[in-house]
Amino acid sequence: MTITPPLQSVRWAETHLDLLDQRLLPEEIVMLPLTTVEQVWEAIRHLAVRGAPAIGIAAAYGVALGAQAATQEEPQAWLGEIRRIADYLATSRPTAVNLFWALDRMTHCAEKAAADTSLSLTARNNALLHEAHRIQAEDEEVCRQIGEHALTLFEDGMGVLTHCNAGGLATAKYGTALAPFYLAQERGIQLKVFADETRPVLQGARLTAFELQQAGVDVTLICDNMAGYVMSKGWVQAVIVGTDRVAANGDVANKIGTYSVAVLAKAHNIPVYVACPLSTIDLQTASGADIPIEERPESEITEGFGKRTAPVGVKVFNPAFDVTPHAYVSAIITEKGIIKPPFHVNLPKLFQ
Ligand code: MRU
Repeated sequence: MTITPPLQSVRWAETHLDLLDQRLLPEEIVMLPLTTVEQVWEAIRHLAVRGAPAIGIAAAYGVALGAQAATQEEPQAWLGEIRRIADYLATSRPTAVNLFWALDRMTHCAEKAAADTSLSLTARNNALLHEAHRIQAEDEEVCRQIGEHALTLFEDGMGVLTHCNAGGLATAKYGTALAPFYLAQERGIQLKVFADETRPVLQGARLTAFELQQAGVDVTLICDNMAGYVMSKGWVQAVIVGTDRVAANGDVANKIGTYSVAVLAKAHNIPVYVACPLSTIDLQTASGADIPIEERPESEITEGFGKRTAPVGVKVFNPAFDVTPHAYVSAIITEKGIIKPPFHVNLPKLFQ
């Protein structure tokens, strides 16, 4: 039996980009047809597509989409257009490094195409579309490998807690942190997953609980403030999360609340695993203090989902991510294997 995540969040559709509107899940399954770069930017900024790898894939297709509207026949002028598109998409969200990684890949691809003067405008544009397809296909393969490595850390009957959504919806397929759950399910290994709701946007409730339930994985939804109690009962033997950026020293930026979960896990002697592709590891960023943390609109907290739950005019702080210091991270699981501390020594080795 092969269990796969139920929905594909990013899909190229011949001439345009279809994005599953993740804001409407789990109630409605709606594909957004995007035909312009501006629409891709909006979709990323306003969370129609979210999750570090999926943001990167969507942005790569955004460049390919923008190229279709490029007017410059002359290669260097065309390259200028592509660079402007990439620079624009890079302003959509600041924390997930996969966005910048994917845009760099697309820009390098454009540079190579522009250097080959035998290529027509159409051939150059096709090269960009192929590169976006490759980024998506590679991500699917990488996620499966991450899942294989992660699964070696889990045993039948274990309880595993996850925060936010690092699943099929956040990637090309399978996810990073959720990949081992799909593989366990394929192999008849019983894991009991606890999914934090993940305030304020509820990616855990709306997305993780949704996609795991659809796949038949044993998932229990809890509010964020229940994690400590559930751990104290001995129901959780491991925590696994995704990440938006890993700094060179192993500090990890992920959805707000991850740090609290990691502190709770340490207090209960529970290992914390972080699952991510190499494209999420940013050796140029020395430590978590250097990772830009996105702040999002107050309304996500004061009137999330259309109901006011706070007094008008109250001061609000709404960071979308936090940084878990490397001392709280037991291992980082990549497509190349399980990386243990010291991370400042072992992460660079991955790129040698
Ligand atoms: O704001 P989001 O929903 O884009 O945040 C997503 C997360 O924090 C994920 O855990 C992270 O991007 C890893 S997705 C494989």
